[in-house]
Amino acid sequence: MCGIFGYVGTKQAGPLLLEGLKKLEYRGYDSCGIGTFDDGQLHVRKGVGKIDEVEKTEKISGVPGTTGLSHSRWATHGGVTSTNAHPHTDCQKSIAVVHNGIIENYQELKKELQTKGHRFTSQTDTEIIAHLIESQAAGTLAEKVRAATLQLHGSFALLVISTNDPHTLVAVRNESPMAIGLGVNEFFAASDVMPFLEHTKNAVFLEDGEMAVLTKAGVTFMDVKNGTILSKLAKTLDWDSQSATKMGHPHFMIKEILEQPAAIKNALVQDPEKLDRFVTLLKQHADVKFVACGTSRHAALVGRYAMNQLSGKSAEVYIASEFSYFADQCTKDTLIVAVSQSGETADVLVGLRKAKAKGAKIASLVNVAGSSIDRESDVCLYLNCGPEIAVASTKAFTAQLSVLYLLAYTLAGQKNAGIAHLKEVARHAADRLPKWQTQTQKLAESWTQHEHVYFLGRGVNFPVALEGALKLKEISYIHAEGMPAGELKHGTLALIEKNTPVILINPHDYTFSDTLSNGMETKARGAKLIGLSDSANEAYDEYIALPKMPELFYPLVAVLPLQLLAYHAAVLRKNDPDRPRNLAKSVTVR
Ligand code: M6R
Repeated sequence: MCGIFGYVGTKQAGPLLLEGLKKLEYRGYDSCGIGTFDDGQLHVRKGVGKIDEVEKTEKISGVPGTTGLSHSRWATHGGVTSTNAHPHTDCQKSIAVVHNGIIENYQELKKELQTKGHRFTSQTDTEIIAHLIESQAAGTLAEKVRAATLQLHGSFALLVISTNDPHTLVAVRNESPMAIGLGVNEFFAASDVMPFLEHTKNAVFLEDGEMAVLTKAGVTFMDVKNGTILSKLAKTLDWDSQSATKMGHPHFMIKEILEQPAAIKNALVQDPEKLDRFVTLLKQHADVKFVACGTSRHAALVGRYAMNQLSGKSAEVYIASEFSYFADQCTKDTLIVAVSQSGETADVLVGLRKAKAKGAKIASLVNVAGSSIDRESDVCLYLNCGPEIAVASTKAFTAQLSVLYLLAYTLAGQKNAGIAHLKEVARHAADRLPKWQTQTQKLAESWTQHEHVYFLGRGVNFPVALEGALKLKEISYIHAEGMPAGELKHGTLALIEKNTPVILINPHDYTFSDTLSNGMETKARGAKLIGLSDSANEAYDEYIALPKMPELFYPLVAVLPLQLLAYHAAVLRKNDPDRPRNLAKSVTVR
């Protein structure tokens, strides 16, 4: 994971890099650092902690110079220490490197370099890159980086500066994202476009095996393998840099939760030609496999259900990290539907590449236009919900559901009816959000003592149980399990005791009476029952009212109070809901 951001231009790099890096902090935040070139030498400052904390203690933005690179880390190799924080340098302190990814052959390379006399100070895989570049025969920085890169195995997005090639920033991409921002007399390289969006809306996305050499005069793109110069087309970005600010909210997460009524509607605005192409692919392929992780997988589970109910089309849903083991079964009759907010999730990318190699077609839903999954798909629909910054995914989930419902309705030949229903759902969501805010805050206050919570649902509501539990776990650190209500008595019921909270996702639909019976079984064992329904019942100790709507759409509204509950529980426990411990937003390692 990790976020990297580099700059070459006329402004002081330190403060600009610091501001940009904060927009990448969602990718990892255990330590950070900035390196610049000035007056013939490198200046590196780094430390452990979130960016604001490290800035306070180390003044990392105070490094001088107009060329530099920066990094926010999510540790893979080597503990969370200041020495392991990036940038890393070579023996002579003449080369500084930041890296996102994993160098698989770093141990072999390290041994070789040690034999040649290189001295290492960190436990990271990244440090070997600086030494490997240092060990190359004479040449420009770009030539040395290229030669070194050819010896690396694994996934990497790299930025490199050196005292020998002042005011040059070299960027390389292999299996980890890299966007290049094209300004006027200033150029940027970053893990995604957010850090440079306020400086330029023109971006070029590197593909695997490509590199870019950035100077104040411009950018040269090259093929890493043979060194040939590439001409690449710039894309104009339509995201607004304001949308990546909290806009007065205490956290990004609450801002993003409250944006969902708009997200549901904006997701409906799809390019008609691409929507048709997606639906045609669904019709043409007998074997449809959804591949996704985390929240995106929960959205896929609802999508599969909606497609099946509305048009009879069946599909399978795979956890992306497990899909690789089944990818050999793909053929030209397979359509992979990749669902991903970031469009960069490594497990999804690996799965879709394996499937492609077997002749499968790829249709995807992503939020980040220009992301790797977008570029590697035969057709890709965008979620249009603007940047999602909080690590816990909220508005991307409802936007994913909105597009999946739209697809299901279009497949069933009822596109306009689907759009009308979804607009109505968005209106209900907007009406109810203020009430749910107060109710869930109160409920969370009464939960400070609880360490286990269970979420139950059936049918189309089962994925909402999974999602409610995931949200609660990842930001409040309360243990939670979501499961099909009918499955409870096959084991988990043993864990229910006096006052254990059980949340029943129980709209008055075809699942109502069976789910209620399962709730009663937990209540009989002392559980505190929280009913999420459009129909009150005396069995509920707490009742969160849902609006009435067509059965298929309950997941879109039922998930909102659950997101709010997780948010309030996290805040009450004094956790940072935007940056939960141990996690990162974009999971670009396997
Ligand atoms: O970017 P993606 O949608 O591919 O990310 C998938 C998961 O990593 C993501 O949904 C994760 O589970 C979230 N932190 C959940 O809130």
